[in-house]
Amino acid sequence: MEPVVLRTERLELSAPTEADIDRIVAWSQDPDVIAFTPVPVPYGRAEGEAFVHATAASGWAEGTRLEFLIRDTTRPGPAVGSVVVFGFGDDAAEIGYLLAPDSRGRGYVTEACARVIDWLFTPAPDGLGLVRIRWSAPAENTASAAVAQRLGFVLEGRLRSALVHRGSRHDDLVAGLLRSDPRDPVVW
Ligand SMILES: CC(C)(COP(=O)(O)OP(=O)(O)OC[C@H]1O[C@@H](n2cnc3c(N)ncnc32)[C@H](O)[C@@H]1OP(=O)(O)O)[C@@H](O)C(=O)NCCC(=O)NCCS
Repeated sequence: MEPVVLRTERLELSAPTEADIDRIVAWSQDPDVIAFTPVPVPYGRAEGEAFVHATAASGWAEGTRLEFLIRDTTRPGPAVGSVVVFGFGDDAAEIGYLLAPDSRGRGYVTEACARVIDWLFTPAPDGLGLVRIRWSAPAENTASAAVAQRLGFVLEGRLRSALVHRGSRHDDLVAGLLRSDPRDPVVW
């Protein structure tokens, strides 16, 4: 599929480009990004090139992994973070996200995910017509869980010691959002 551009009043969400590579490389050094996402370690220019020109490009072309960078159109500067939709099947998919350390605490990811979710739930041809979105994270990732709760995800389970990340085991929290859910913030 062709990459999609989504907008809110202050954000533009669009596919990563060559011009974003330095920024992607920079945020991939962050300890929390390393601790909670599957970025390669070490992450240099070659990994950034591969991400933009192979992973993201083929993901959009095949419709299997939709990588959006989050851009604040109200202030100059590089992309502030990313939202990814992956694991498609049976009208469902999983959502993931990250922010550059200097861009946290401003509501960017919650706003960006809400817009992406609107699009995912909108029937075709204006959206993808999904009925369910899945979220999963190690139980220690309270910042990510807070985003999911602000978006209205319903906690569905805690899979004990189910997640192996960078050589250690974690409880895996799993949550879901249905097209028919209210989308109001919840507290788990
Ligand atoms: C997970 C992560 C993206 C959350 O970032 P975040 O900045 O907390 O999330 P948001 O963009 O939704 O911002 C929410 C914060 O901005 C504040 N905020 C400020 N202005 C705001 C506005 N205009 N609108 C909404 N919230 C605003 C909120 O009060 C909230 O702050 P709080 O947590 O102190 O209550 C970030 O911690 C991260 O990148 N972590 C590493 C990667 C990672 O773990 N990814 C998830 C993998 S499962």
